[in-house]
Amino acid sequence: MILALETSCDDTCAALVTRDGRIESNVISSQGLLHSRYGGVVPELASRAHLELIGAVTADALEAAGAGLDDVRRVAVTRGPGLIGALLVGVSWAKAMAAARELSLTAVDHLHGHVVGSTLGDDPVQAPYVCLVASGGHTFLARVDEPGSYRVLGQTLDDAAGEAFDKGARLLGLGYPGGPELDRLARQGDPDSFDFPRSAPGGNGSSSSRLDFSFSGVKTALLYAVRDLGEARAAERRADLAASYQRAIVAALTARTAQAVVREGAARLAIGGGVAANSELRHSLEELGVRLGIRVWIPPRELCTDNAAMIGAAARFTEPLPYPDYLGLDAAARL
Ligand code: KG4
Ligand code: ZN
Repeated sequence: MILALETSCDDTCAALVTRDGRIESNVISSQGLLHSRYGGVVPELASRAHLELIGAVTADALEAAGAGLDDVRRVAVTRGPGLIGALLVGVSWAKAMAAARELSLTAVDHLHGHVVGSTLGDDPVQAPYVCLVASGGHTFLARVDEPGSYRVLGQTLDDAAGEAFDKGARLLGLGYPGGPELDRLARQGDPDSFDFPRSAPGGNGSSSSRLDFSFSGVKTALLYAVRDLGEARAAERRADLAASYQRAIVAALTARTAQAVVREGAARLAIGGGVAANSELRHSLEELGVRLGIRVWIPPRELCTDNAAMIGAAARFTEPLPYPDYLGLDAAARL
């Protein structure tokens, strides 16, 4: 089994994954409540919380898998990108766990984890496939020809989709993290009541163009709409604003994904990242699959948001470092 660890942002995560992609356990300790009073993740608080939690979370993951350290053949850990202090806790812990038993260690790119999350479980996606990753820090489309790597077809030029959800939620007076709350509120509103922009920068998806995203315009449009309505009216129409805002983001993500699938001649589509937990996006991409006649892998929500099982998934396709070569391994805020 692979013991996988993930501490790149505000979730402390450990999982046990087998070489053939079975998830034996996947423990996630969210620090959401800790950061909510500040309206966002406070990096130094995140690092300290990881430090306090990582031992218990690792023990929980072993227990939930009915396993002991003797069953672990390899350790995997997120090396980056993410908050440097948060990453350092996971990397140091992983090195210590591996070195004590002279196990090998795999350093994983967090985004590679999101890209290959759907290769886990009973019905894994097979390469080649196209993957949409939409999270709080990143939004991109990738082509996966073999699961050890991926090629970025296009990415956001400004805000990530999750960032747009979180900032929109804040404008509407919702709590942190805003994505799930905005998702809930949108269900009570009319998505056609406000006409927010669905930008697709730099082209039409033709063979040479990039498949980029931009979400700063829609955020500004929401800001102006709230300002023009005035506080009282904006509060009354909160659900309509949320529904229309979510519709614009989901429509932009879906349209670009459709272009990527058609252009790449893909028969399979997978999604990952926290925004892939959004109910309207899940529904919209399922419909896209029917429309294009392709299969779509939509992982359970706990495999979309940050988790360690996806880090174990990526480790299956990444060369491990033998003991003691990884003792000098460092975390990296950017890869
Ligand atoms: O992948 P993730 O857990 O962490 C990063 O790597 O960034 O993504 C977190 C992001 C946050 O912006 C959060 O608001 C968003 O995913 N998110 C959602 C939903 N659940 C999480 N956005 C929209 N709808 C949701 N249901
Ligand atoms: Zn992530």
